[in-house]
Amino acid sequence: MNIINVKNYQTLSEIAAAVIAAQIIKKPDSVLGLATGSTPEGTYKNLVEMYRDGILDFSKITTFNLDEYCGLGKEDPNGYFYFMMDKLFSYVNIPRENINVPDGTAKDVDYECAEYERKIRRANGIDLQLLGVGRNGHIGFCEPDDVFYNETRQVNLTESTIEANKRFFASAEEVPKTAISVGIKTIMSAREILVLAGQDKAEIVEKLKSNICSPRIPASILHYHPNCTMIFAENA
Ligand code: GLP
Repeated sequence: MNIINVKNYQTLSEIAAAVIAAQIIKKPDSVLGLATGSTPEGTYKNLVEMYRDGILDFSKITTFNLDEYCGLGKEDPNGYFYFMMDKLFSYVNIPRENINVPDGTAKDVDYECAEYERKIRRANGIDLQLLGVGRNGHIGFCEPDDVFYNETRQVNLTESTIEANKRFFASAEEVPKTAISVGIKTIMSAREILVLAGQDKAEIVEKLKSNICSPRIPASILHYHPNCTMIFAENA
C-alpha cells in the first residue's frame, strides 16, 4: 500500500477528487465503489464543483456503496442512501438506475446480499473503490474478527463503531446494531483502491504502516492489493 502524507484535510479532499476525476475522464463508464463517513465529504464536494464547472460528466457512471445500516430506509437522514443523495448523487448526473446502495430494509437480507454481489459482477466489477477507515481498522462495515469475511453479508457492529458513529444519531441507543456490508473479497476485487484517512485516524494509520496483516485490523488486508493508495492528512 502506497501511503501519501498530505498536510491537511483540504489537500486530502482535492487529491482524492482529482484521482476520481481522472478515472471518470479516462473511462466515462467507470464503476465506482463509494464510501460514507465524514472523511469523503470534502471529496464529494469537490466532485460536485467539477461537475458544475463542466469538467466531469457522470452520465455513464455506475456506483456501488459499501454499506447500509439495517432497518434504515432511503428517506432516513441517518441512512447511507440519504447521506449519498445529500453529499453527491442529488447534484451530479449519475442515472438513478446506476446508483446502488444495499437496501437496509430488505425483508430477505441474505437474498439482498447475494443479489448485491451479483449486481457488482454483472457490472464487470469495480474500477475504483473509495474507502474510509474506522478507528478500529474496519473498512465498509467489515469489523475486526477472527477471520476475513469475503462477500456481502449482514454484520454486527462493534461497540467501538457504535460509539464512533453515535455522533450522527440522537443517542448511541439509536445506532442500528447491524448493517449490510460488502465483504473483504468484494473490496479487494476492485481494480484500484483509494483510502482516505484524516488525522483522527493517526493511531490506526500507524498500525497500518507495519506489515502485519490480521482480520483483527481488516484494513491491513489492503497491503496485499496490487494498486492501493492511502492519502493520510497529518493535520486534518
Ligand atoms: C462508517 C462507514 C465506513 C467509514 C467509517 C469512518 O463506519 N461504514 O465506511 O470508513 O464510518 O467514518 P469517518 O470518515 O466519519 O471517520
